[in-house]
Amino acid sequence: MNTTSNLWSAKTQTERPAWAKAVKLALDLHRHKYNMQKTYEIIYADPPWDYNGQSQHSGNGGVLTGGADSHYPTMTVDEMIKDIVVPGADNSLLYMWTSSPHLPQAIRLGEGWGYDYATVAFVWHKGKTNPGFYTMSQCELCLVFKRGKIPQPRGSRNTRQFLESARQQHSRKPDEIRQRIEKMHPTQTKYEMFARQVTPGWDCEGNQTNTFEYSTAFDRLFDKIDR
Ligand SMILES: C[S@@+](CC[C@H](N)C(=O)[O-])C[C@H]1O[C@@H](n2cnc3c(N)ncnc32)[C@H](O)[C@@H]1O
Repeated sequence: MNTTSNLWSAKTQTERPAWAKAVKLALDLHRHKYNMQKTYEIIYADPPWDYNGQSQHSGNGGVLTGGADSHYPTMTVDEMIKDIVVPGADNSLLYMWTSSPHLPQAIRLGEGWGYDYATVAFVWHKGKTNPGFYTMSQCELCLVFKRGKIPQPRGSRNTRQFLESARQQHSRKPDEIRQRIEKMHPTQTKYEMFARQVTPGWDCEGNQTNTFEYSTAFDRLFDKIDR
């Protein structure tokens, strides 16, 4: 585990004003209180996959991103099935990110958490290519799993599966995907697992939830207030 590698995070934490620290504390307390009592209809997860110390795309010594475990602690599928509690309601959907080589593990994890695999909900084209063993990889997949029935009422029914959006920090997924999920399920309770930022309208858990601070979350909140 390397807790000092994210300089970007350290910088924003140092510069964070006192009022923002107080808001964060209040949100954290609220979130923890909530999480103990609630189940959620929409779960969004980006698991800390264990790639055996390798880069997910190019094997040992991948030149572009390095192994995930140089950025955060990783877990095996068996550990996540055993140790991670998913607060999904009886009728709920689980949206889960995976890389293509890891598809079998992702389906095993979803099933281990009590969900049935439904389909590939989103395909994210990251703009740049990564080396691969077969073809050069440039997409990541967000699968959707179902437990019970699809939560009602449904929102948007014409949401696009494909998104082209430039890659950001290591492992960071585009906010646009979270926003598409919100449009598809506007009234449902939502929970993000393994989050690295807090997003208004979502409860969340993760051991790095302040990595990206509130840059996006606050902007969106203030946008809403301004409107
Ligand atoms: C793939 S990253 C999530 C990336 C995030 N979706 C984003 O867009 O920035 C996985 C996260 O899970 C965290 N994590 C690892 N083990 C955990 C655990 N046992 N409990 C909570 N979070 C954990 C990691 O530290 C990392 O922040």
